[in-house]
Amino acid sequence: MHELIQPELLKKRLAESFFSSHIHYYPSVDSTNALVKTLANQGASEGTIVIAEEQTAGRGRRGKSWVSPAGANLLFSVLLRPPMEGDRVFALTMVLSLAALKAIKKICGVKAMIKWPNDLYVGAKKLAGILTEFAVTEKRVDWAVLGMGINVGWRPDDPEEGGAPATSLVEETERSISRNELLLELLPGFEAFYKEVVRGRLEALYEQWNRHCLVLGKAVVIESEMERIEGRALRIDDCGALIIEDSMGNERRIITGEVSLRLASP
Ligand code: BTN
Repeated sequence: MHELIQPELLKKRLAESFFSSHIHYYPSVDSTNALVKTLANQGASEGTIVIAEEQTAGRGRRGKSWVSPAGANLLFSVLLRPPMEGDRVFALTMVLSLAALKAIKKICGVKAMIKWPNDLYVGAKKLAGILTEFAVTEKRVDWAVLGMGINVGWRPDDPEEGGAPATSLVEETERSISRNELLLELLPGFEAFYKEVVRGRLEALYEQWNRHCLVLGKAVVIESEMERIEGRALRIDDCGALIIEDSMGNERRIITGEVSLRLASP
């Protein structure tokens, strides 16, 4: 039996944080992202967070579903109202990955890497994913919802043909990991990074997310509905975009959105 999420404990221990005052906890929701978006449109304040044991319609990027058995994993979404332009919003995805990676290292001793644009991997297996959704009014971000699923206590099945293999913290450590402790480490770290992003102090963060990025220096294939680009990943810029060198030797800037990235076969 997994330990349940304890919203009262989270409230108490996050007292100093802007996440403490609007913690919503549900045994089951359709999607924490969908719920936070509804709250955002009703005027909910920055720092609102929804955590669920189970989602009946969990969503991933590119219209995929996000499957997670009840009570096993960490499923949450946060609401931000960053005073920034819409084209910088994916810097938030990057700092959430960075904060999660650090919390995972501290609480579990597991070394995850960022697979641009929105995943955490351990080796060749997916550990976590982030879905960032936002609304812009006159180029400025009105709200941003960042939803994250981290595989904690789940033993994933083998992937279907062509699917990415998944892992979890219990698979990596053979220990039972407290989702409460993980969240209590992750949220203050994320808040601190978020404040740096808002202040425009990106240099140290930029350096860190490049250092922890899985794909840099490697041959990659980027696919969207419009095109397919092959190249070598050079760096992530301070808006969270990936810079690659294409086969003609030209630098191309790939903004996240609806693209997928995979390592090219050797
Ligand atoms: C992906 O890898 O495609 C992103 C997955 C994001 C899943 C999380 S789980 C909590 C939040 N609610 C959702 O419906 N999706 C995100």
